[in-house]
Amino acid sequence: MRNKLVQKLVEHQGTFISGESLSQSLGVSRTAVWKQMDALKKSGYQIDSVPKKGYQLIARPNGIQEHDIHLYVQTKRLGHTVTYYDSVPTTQTLAHEWAEGGAKEGHLIVADEQTGGRGRLGRNWHSTFGTSISMSLILRPKLSPQQTPQLTLVAAVAVTRAIEKVTQLKADIKWPNDILIKGKKLVGILTEMQSEPGLAKVVILGIGINANQSEDELSHDERNQATSLKVESGLETNRAQLIATVLEEFEWLYDTYLEKGFSEIKLLWEARSISIGKKLKAQTINGTVTGMSTGITAEGALLLEDDEGIVHTIYSADIDQA
Ligand code: BTN
Repeated sequence: MRNKLVQKLVEHQGTFISGESLSQSLGVSRTAVWKQMDALKKSGYQIDSVPKKGYQLIARPNGIQEHDIHLYVQTKRLGHTVTYYDSVPTTQTLAHEWAEGGAKEGHLIVADEQTGGRGRLGRNWHSTFGTSISMSLILRPKLSPQQTPQLTLVAAVAVTRAIEKVTQLKADIKWPNDILIKGKKLVGILTEMQSEPGLAKVVILGIGINANQSEDELSHDERNQATSLKVESGLETNRAQLIATVLEEFEWLYDTYLEKGFSEIKLLWEARSISIGKKLKAQTINGTVTGMSTGITAEGALLLEDDEGIVHTIYSADIDQA
């Protein structure tokens, strides 16, 4: 009912809509409408209520609850169920738990804050209340465990496209899936998997976006200089719209990938990547490899050609300019 009520208010933004017509169109009592209005006001909605005229939506908070996201979701199946939390250690663990409990593909877990966000290679991921985006999407693809790293590359393409659509900012992909603007990190992607022999049972696609953080709110660790959409554009981004657009972009790319394989995604990824045709240093668990990056393999691994002409295939590493 809350989703429908918000939808009605948005449809009538700029005009009043009476309590009577709301209660009729939603099939609930006027007291129920009044109670929901009260709850919306408490969660930051600015709603004008005038006797005999009804309600008028003045402003919406930059919220990411289910009803906020559903105003923008236009997907076929992803994000039709959204579970929102104010503050959690990490949306990844919650998504794993929801998946174990039988949650369907496309169920999205979002939080306004993470207190123990997880990053790649055992690192932490910093997120801030109300300004960052922390989302974990439950996927159930019919893939082998070896294929699932490709999904992070699919997601990287989807997120850069969504950012460009919503903010007009152009972002680059650094292998395998960091998203940067002018060399500073804006987005992190983490895929985790529960598998059976030969089959990835569940993939949890975790995406963290620095959306509306100010310069002071960003964590600058030794390795990564961070930035946010707000720092880069000077504008506040509507987080719910961006989440919905990420889902929309990811859905068609994911379906293309499942249907036709990685080749089309590979071209899109390479077109946005800053990790091709450069001399790079890859720190892997087996040591450091330096070489010219000549591209990625059909599996999404990075190819580095060293000074002796030997081509190294890098599956997991930290990458820097050499
Ligand atoms: C990285 O660049 O190291 C990956 C960062 C991934 C962060 C996201 S935020 C949503 C989800 N929950 C987490 O704890 N991590 C991922």
